[in-house]
Amino acid sequence: MSAPKTAVITGASSGIGAVYADRFAKRGYDLVLVARRVDRLEDVADQIRKAHGVNVEALQADLEKDNDIAKVERVLSTNPTVRILVNNAGLARLKPLAQSLLQDSLAQIALNMTSLTRLTHAVLPAFVKANDGLIINIASVLGIHALPVSAVYSGTKGFVINFTRGLQEELASTGVRVQLVNPATTATEIWDNSGIPLSALNQEAVMTTENMVDAALSGLDNGEKVTWPSVADATLWDRYDEARSALFAATQTGKPAPRYNIA
Ligand SMILES: NC(=O)c1ccc[n+]([C@@H]2O[C@H](COP(=O)([O-])OP(=O)(O)OC[C@H]3O[C@@H](n4cnc5c(N)ncnc54)[C@H](OP(=O)(O)O)[C@@H]3O)[C@@H](O)[C@H]2O)c1
Repeated sequence: MSAPKTAVITGASSGIGAVYADRFAKRGYDLVLVARRVDRLEDVADQIRKAHGVNVEALQADLEKDNDIAKVERVLSTNPTVRILVNNAGLARLKPLAQSLLQDSLAQIALNMTSLTRLTHAVLPAFVKANDGLIINIASVLGIHALPVSAVYSGTKGFVINFTRGLQEELASTGVRVQLVNPATTATEIWDNSGIPLSALNQEAVMTTENMVDAALSGLDNGEKVTWPSVADATLWDRYDEARSALFAATQTGKPAPRYNIA
């Protein structure tokens, strides 16, 4: 029998995380599933145990809370079977900032940025030591696009994109893989909770959760570092990234651009 290997998936009580849980169980991983709604986590865990016969632990944690993040950090830093971390738990509160509650903005920052950073810190030393391991960070197409209702959400997902790209650079010469996934609109509970009901969206632009995760896993299997599950023309990303890189190179002049007329 092969040695046990475990995937830790945050936000696995619904939506994208619950599908990742099913798919990694199908690939033979034991699971630690993290979220606040433990009844929903237990339902997902039961279905997966029955379907795939793997070990599944439902770990209740509110990843906006310091002590609860610490519970998950402990698993990540002490369980030697952990091979995969899927940083998926996320929250959207979609309203213009002037009409938003500060606590909603801070909750998005705490969950989408702080907890993702802390959990990555917790797992990385063991992955680097083993020269093995996989981190999947779920950002969003809104990480490169800000709507008049998404200043904070887009800001948090922009962080996930840059954080993940930086990590990929750091780990390029190691066996540790980091995949950045940028879903577009996916049919999950996040929308009704965000203040914009799923039913109000253009239904043609909505992907099923299963399709989103299966496309992302196909990208992973093909060695993609940055996955845009809904984008048909993959050269768009290459060209975007080339333009970004050229813009960065053009900043390295040490003097004001001529158009500013500084003598
Ligand atoms: N759906 C989309 O259109 C879309 C598009 C782009 C990116 N994304 C990203 O995809 C990821 C998954 O979201 P989803 O669409 O699958 O939405 P979802 O069904 O609402 O799932 C969000 C998950 O995060 C968990 N979560 C929320 N707050 C938490 C907290 N404080 N502590 C621990 N877990 C918490 C939820 O569980 P509990 O409530 O039980 O805690 C749930 O399992 C998010 O990062 C989201 O930003 C989604």
